Amino acid sequence: MSYETTYAKWQTDPQNFWAEAARAIDWDKPWQQVLDDSNPPFYRWFAGGELNSCYNALDRHVENGRADQAALIYDSAMTDSIQTFTYAQLRDQVAQLAGAIRNLGVGKGDRVIIYMPMVPEAVMAMLACARIGAIHSVVFGGFAANELATRINDAKPKAVLSASCGLEPNRVVAYKPLLDKAIELATHKPDHCLILQRPQLTADLTPNRDYDWHDYVAQAEPVACVPVAATDPLYILYTSGTTGVPKGIVRDNGGHAVALKWSMEYVYNVKPGDVYWAASDVGWVVGHSYIVYGPLLHGCTTVLYEGKPVGTPDPGAFWRVVDQHQVNVLFTAPTAFRAIKREDPNATYMTKYDVSSLRALFLAGERCDPDTLQWAERILGVPVVDHWWQTETGWPIVANPLGLTQLPVKPGSASKPVPGYDVRVLNLDGDEQRPGEIGDIVVKLPLPPGTLMTLWQNDRLFQNAYLRSYEGYYLTADAGYKDEDGYIFIMSRTDDIINVAGHRLSTGAIEGVIAAHPDVAECAVVGLKDELKGEVPLGFLVLKAGVQRAEADIVQEVIQLVREQIGPVASFKQARVVQRLPKTRSGKVLRSTIKKIADREAYRVPATIDDPAILDEIAAVLNSA
Ligand code: COA
Ligand code: AMP
Repeated sequence: MSYETTYAKWQTDPQNFWAEAARAIDWDKPWQQVLDDSNPPFYRWFAGGELNSCYNALDRHVENGRADQAALIYDSAMTDSIQTFTYAQLRDQVAQLAGAIRNLGVGKGDRVIIYMPMVPEAVMAMLACARIGAIHSVVFGGFAANELATRINDAKPKAVLSASCGLEPNRVVAYKPLLDKAIELATHKPDHCLILQRPQLTADLTPNRDYDWHDYVAQAEPVACVPVAATDPLYILYTSGTTGVPKGIVRDNGGHAVALKWSMEYVYNVKPGDVYWAASDVGWVVGHSYIVYGPLLHGCTTVLYEGKPVGTPDPGAFWRVVDQHQVNVLFTAPTAFRAIKREDPNATYMTKYDVSSLRALFLAGERCDPDTLQWAERILGVPVVDHWWQTETGWPIVANPLGLTQLPVKPGSASKPVPGYDVRVLNLDGDEQRPGEIGDIVVKLPLPPGTLMTLWQNDRLFQNAYLRSYEGYYLTADAGYKDEDGYIFIMSRTDDIINVAGHRLSTGAIEGVIAAHPDVAECAVVGLKDELKGEVPLGFLVLKAGVQRAEADIVQEVIQLVREQIGPVASFKQARVVQRLPKTRSGKVLRSTIKKIADREAYRVPATIDDPAILDEIAAVLNSA
């Protein structure tokens, strides 16, 4: 069916549309209502239904003829090793790990934090939690102890699953000291930690609290899948919010399984048995949806890659993986392609490999610059799809749905709304903008299955952050426009979130850390344009009166503080000392004007500015650097 027909079918009868899609999932108990809209804005999909996400991702494929098909290929460029798990093997290992997690005292509805590098045990841990109805919350390995502590306090996990170390090209990252520090900082203490000892570094275990993963799991019995309500939470995934405190996005079981399975077929045009590779990290939503759940729900082989697009060992890394595992569809962030293009502009490394298995490349996580899109199209000769979504939605909002119709590509646009999403561009009065006019991008409620249910134990913030701005609409916090053909162009965030190498960071959170330095009176952080990472944070510091220390030392200390408290993932490496910050007469820092000056873009002097001369001072400091 074409894109237009499918979109119209969804619009005409959304509940019937999703009921049909839900037939592709195995249910323990059928739902009573496709959409329970009795308590808006808390819409619930497939109310009354019961299922198990792990059963749908693993067991049913084993039972239906895929037992010997590869479910997971772990390819580590960091350790130069490859490990393949068939569906039967993965099911068995997950069942036993689930037994071990249960032995830790974890039951249905309990939270488990997973703080792990890109190893197969991380995927198994997520699925094992799902198997027993526990709620997992994966924390990205590049976050520091403080960020982990914040998430421990919010999710209140009974157990933490972690590893001795992660592997980055330039260093071995010791995870265990970070975990110990986080538990020390946190007011909530998990009962137990299960620690995977990797050969590169052995961690010290705390007696009675920590267990060695292999020993502990070896003693456990496998357990079966526990049916859970479709509306029970499957996971919490924290993402940057404007307040500096991360928001715990809550995903359900039923809607999530239905939406992801549908998207594999109709957005990504993937068939069961195909090899699907999302080159991301299990700590991000892309990893949740398209390394773990989506491909496995669909009976695909998923690739888990521990490595980088360049430097592990060279810019041919992606082509090697595609060739070696016969990858059919690749999904990554534009920054990965910018990194490859920068090191190998003529794609000469690609000629060493046979990449003919590849049918399409999907890019998301940040705005895809037309240059990178067209370069990828040229070197690969397959459709390159820029698609737009968020941690909150869990699956694409706007895309070129290759499984329906391959729409003509307009570089700079993620194409058209995916069935399920009624996307509008509104002005501040709540009226729809005309084609080409920029406004707030919103989605009409109810959101489709698979999108966030609420924020973990914070219904109020859920409503305030997403639903209060425009009655009846979900605020995406992205600005952009629709053209006359209905293509959506995402231009920028409307809050203080910046996008660094496809990672979402709050400048407010970075400012919070800098402001705690004893010599800093006030500060501002903006996203500076960066050729590789899209944006990188740049700090402006005003020192307290009378501080005599060398500015360079203070800048170094501030950079170190952000690394220690937020983590290396913030890529915070630049800060400048200035005498004053430009502000409005009411005292609001003019961050967007500072950003324009830093990006060397033309800017208008805001009418509300307190003292226009400060802008010249900022420009002078930037020019002198
Ligand atoms: N654990 C610990 N540290 C980590 C980490 C992890 N899981 N992941 C990244 N880091 C560290 C890196 O080592 C680096 O530290 P450094 O400052 O000491 O060099 C820092 O965090 C920044 O990492 P990264 O953003 O990966 O930048 P990079 O300069 O090392 O590599 C790219 C640049 C473009 C190659 C890299 O960002 C990349 O591969 N991006 C792919 C996009 C992607 O996966 N996006 C996810 C959403 S789809
Ligand atoms: P995250 O929640 O980390 O996935 O980040 C989501 C944000 O990344 C969105 O709100 C956008 O600001 C940005 N983003 C993701 N994909 C795209 C895209 N294809 N084009 C433009 N911006 C994107």
